[in-house]
Amino acid sequence: MQSDGIDLILFGAAGDLSRRKLLPALMHLDNNGLLPDDLRILALSREHMTTEQFMAGQQHTLQTYMGEQRWSQALWERFCQRVRYVAVQFTQVSQYAYLKSELQAQRVAVFYFATPPSLFQTICENLSAAQCLSKTSRVVLEKPIGRDFANCKEVNETVGLFFDEQRIYRIDHYLGKETVQNLLALRFANRFINAQWDNTCIDHVQITVAETVGVDGRFAYYDHVGQLRDMLQNHLMQLLCLVAMEPPNTMTAHDIRDEKVKVVRALRVIDEDSVTEHVVRGQYVQGWYRTEELTGYLQLEDADNPDSDTETFVALKAFIDNWRWAGVPFYLRTGKRMGEKVTEIVITYKTLAHNIFGAHENSPNRLVIRLQPNEGIEMQMLSKQQGIEGGMALERQNLDLNFLHASGSERIPDAYERLFLDVIRADQSLFVGREEVEESWLWCDQLISAWQSCRLKVHPYPAGSKGPAQAELLIGRDGRSWHE
Ligand code: BG6
Repeated sequence: MQSDGIDLILFGAAGDLSRRKLLPALMHLDNNGLLPDDLRILALSREHMTTEQFMAGQQHTLQTYMGEQRWSQALWERFCQRVRYVAVQFTQVSQYAYLKSELQAQRVAVFYFATPPSLFQTICENLSAAQCLSKTSRVVLEKPIGRDFANCKEVNETVGLFFDEQRIYRIDHYLGKETVQNLLALRFANRFINAQWDNTCIDHVQITVAETVGVDGRFAYYDHVGQLRDMLQNHLMQLLCLVAMEPPNTMTAHDIRDEKVKVVRALRVIDEDSVTEHVVRGQYVQGWYRTEELTGYLQLEDADNPDSDTETFVALKAFIDNWRWAGVPFYLRTGKRMGEKVTEIVITYKTLAHNIFGAHENSPNRLVIRLQPNEGIEMQMLSKQQGIEGGMALERQNLDLNFLHASGSERIPDAYERLFLDVIRADQSLFVGREEVEESWLWCDQLISAWQSCRLKVHPYPAGSKGPAQAELLIGRDGRSWHE
C-alpha cells in the first residue's frame, strides 16, 4: 500500500497495552497487507535497550497472538524492519532531540500516547519544544481521558494547545469492535429494524459487559478508579449512545459525534433522590470458577487498602429524556470477576396488545447483539411448534447470525486493527469527540457525588458469580429480569 509516508511514534511501547494489543494489531495489519509499505514504527520507552533486544522481548507474545498458521519468519523479519526502538525519558526535553532527528518534515507523524494521562501534557510540551510537531501531526490518546469532568477538560485543553480537534484521536477500543460497527449497520441499513426502534415498540434495553478477569496486579491503579470510571463512563456509555442516537446525516465523525452527544445530554441525572433505587455497587469476595479458587478483591496480593469500598461491579437504571426514548429504561451492568465473559446489548420489545393465541406462549421478541464471545445477532421470536399434534401452540425460536461463520473468515479482527487503520486513513468516525467525553464525565460525576453523599453501600458478591443479588432486585422490582 502506498502513502505519503507515515511514522507511528508509540509512547509507552514497553507497556502491557502495547505488548498485548498494539503491536499484535500492527502485525496482523502487516500480515494482511494493510499497512502502508513505508510505515515506520518508533517504539519509545524509558529502558535502555537496542531495537533487537526490544523486539526479542516482544517475539513470544506476538507469536502467540498471531497464531501458528499466520506466523512466518518472513513476516517477522518484515515487521522487525519497520520498528526502531528509542529510549526516552518522557519528562526530559533534552532526550527528544534524537526523536526530532528521526522525523522528516514531509512524513506524517502519528503520536500514540499509551501512557498514563498525567504524562500527556509533559509529552506534548516536550514534543513542541523539540520541534517534533507539524501541521500534519496526529495524536492518539488512550483512555482514561481524565478521572472526572474537570480533569478531563484540563487534559483536552492541554492537548488542544498542540493539536486541533481534527487531529486528536481519542480511543475507546469498544468502537473498533466489529459488532459495534455492525450495530450501526443493523440500525441504519435495515428498514424493519429502524422502523421499530423507539418507545412505542421497545420495552427496555439491557447492556451487559461482564468480565471474568479480576484486578490482579492493578490494585494500586484500580482502587482509585472503580468500575464506573473504568468501564461505564466510556465503553458502556458509547454502546448506549450507539443504541439510542438518532440517525446521523452521514457516516462522518462530525455527524456521528453530534448525535451521540445529544444522547448523553438527554440522560436523566441520577441524584441523591434516585441513586438508592437506580444504582447497585458491588465488590467481589473470594469465590470459585469451576474448581479454581478465586481471590477476593481485598485479599489480592497487591491490595493495600483493607477498608476499600471501591466498586468492582455496578448496575444501574438510566432514562433518556427525549422524544424517542421517554419511559424506556436502559439497564446497564458491568463487573470484574464474573462467572462468564459476555458483552451484549439486549433489546426487549413490548408484547402485542392483543394475543389471538390465547393462553399460548406470549413472550416478547428480543434482539440480542453479541459483542463477545460469538460475535453476532440473535433475534428471538415466536413461531408455531412444528407438527400437527400441538394445534396452534407457539414456541420461542432464535434466528441466529454468527458473524464469523457468515463471513467465512477464520478470525474477526481485533478492535485495535480497525482503529489503527482509521488513524492511518485519517478517519475519526470511530473515535470519541471532546464534547462526548466531557458530557459523559459530567453525568458520571453527578452520579458519583450522589452515591458518596448517600453513602451507597458496596455489596459483596462471590468471584465467579453473576454479581450481587441486589442487581437482580434492581431490575426485578420493575417486573423484568436480566438476560442470561
Ligand atoms: C479496558 C479496561 O478499557 O477494557 C479494563 O480498562 C478492561 O479494565 C478492558 O478489562 C476490557 O476490554 P475487553 O475488550 O476485553 O472487553
